[in-house]
Amino acid sequence: MLNKKFLWGGASAANQIEGGFEEDGRGLSNIDLLPYGDQRLAIAQGKMHYSEAKEDAYYPSHTGVDFYHHYKEDIQLMADLNVNAFRFSISWSRIFPTGLETSPNEEGLKFYDNLIDELLKYQIEPVVTISHFDVPKGLMDAFESWKSREMIAQFEKYARTLFNRYKGRVKYWISFNEINMLLHKPFTGAGIFIDDQKENRKQVIFQAAHYEMVASALATKALREIDPDAQLGAMLAAGDYYPYSANPEDVFVAQKANQENFFFLDVQSRGEYPRWALKQFEAENLSLDITADDLQILKENTCDFISFSYYSSRTSKADTSDVDTNTGNAAGGVVNPYLKRSEWGWMIDPLGLRIVMNSIWDRYQKPLMIVENGLGAKDTLTDTDVVHDDYRIAYLNTHLEMIKESMTEDGIPLMGFIMWSILDLVSSSSGEMSKRYGLIYVDKDNLGNGSYRRIKKDSFYWFKDYITENK
Ligand code: BG6
Repeated sequence: MLNKKFLWGGASAANQIEGGFEEDGRGLSNIDLLPYGDQRLAIAQGKMHYSEAKEDAYYPSHTGVDFYHHYKEDIQLMADLNVNAFRFSISWSRIFPTGLETSPNEEGLKFYDNLIDELLKYQIEPVVTISHFDVPKGLMDAFESWKSREMIAQFEKYARTLFNRYKGRVKYWISFNEINMLLHKPFTGAGIFIDDQKENRKQVIFQAAHYEMVASALATKALREIDPDAQLGAMLAAGDYYPYSANPEDVFVAQKANQENFFFLDVQSRGEYPRWALKQFEAENLSLDITADDLQILKENTCDFISFSYYSSRTSKADTSDVDTNTGNAAGGVVNPYLKRSEWGWMIDPLGLRIVMNSIWDRYQKPLMIVENGLGAKDTLTDTDVVHDDYRIAYLNTHLEMIKESMTEDGIPLMGFIMWSILDLVSSSSGEMSKRYGLIYVDKDNLGNGSYRRIKKDSFYWFKDYITENK
């Protein structure tokens, strides 16, 4: 079904796997300040300041799953899994510890040199996210992060440093992970705290969105100069909004939600703001700092491909009294009565993956790359070191069937399937370890206790066979 270059792999994020948060000169980042527990959501949403976290709070990113020290062993496991791609992110504050330095931290660069070389040794293609929910604390302190235009130059400096250092070795770059997370969790997505008494939330968010999109376009421009063979993708937390019923009121609400969700891709892929957004900015009196130069940069430097995560579809209803914020990844919606839910309440909808692939392709006609898809579930490690995760196998299998159909029957060009995730890692939304996504179990609990031993689950062997048959 697939061409030879099709990427089969797994994905991760620095803050969810690396640990080693103060090693070799690394500075603090936004996610290092996001605690585990009942304050996590309010801080993630930028509604509570991180400095109000309980004194004895536990911060899961500080240890991750200790990939910083285990990467060689982990890459060997990836080679055994037979994948040919690994998506990871670079920790910005390893490279520029406060973000403000004029020259990079050599030890940070070296870590990723070693990581990339180790992957290439096994013919595993690195797919690299420049910022996966990642802003150095120094930039939050200096500029309140992406509230400020200053961030554009900081990001460009950082991106150029990476492109110059890793050129020829990294062919696929992603600028911002799930750029639309900014709409739902501005602290997680962009290191932003919003004082709702003094600030207009929408103004702050759409201003930050604009700066991020200009920064991403400038990174695209820089990559074309520095390494013209490499490509840069936009990245969206995807999933279509279905109308709850055929009532035109529900259909309209779903249409509006889809427009908002595609807002970022409209700008990054078409190079222009959608008209509805401009009208909305006007109607709501948002005064955004958008210059003519910015608009030209956006127009001239659109993304090469569109990458996205997919966990669930979403469902919209005009009557908002039933909204359940726990139906999927960040974006709320109502419960879809036709679907089953995961242990964390997320809707399970394999056909929704084929639907969203068609939606994105119909809108943009750029190659797609799936860079996250998987099931967060509780696993049981038996006394004999086995994890029977047939639920995860079923999830992946049904989604892969839909991918096959979208390629063979709908003709959608897909560059790769990079699932979430090869190793268990810290959950982004809940900070838990018990919400496990991996094909490989990592022995660590929600409070960081454990041996950090790696144990292959049943899904590891299943995925390996699947890839081997379809490569
Ligand atoms: C995406 C992120 O939101 O979904 C990942 O890019 C995240 O960082 C993944 O881990 C799954 O979400 P969660 O909240 O279950 O970890």
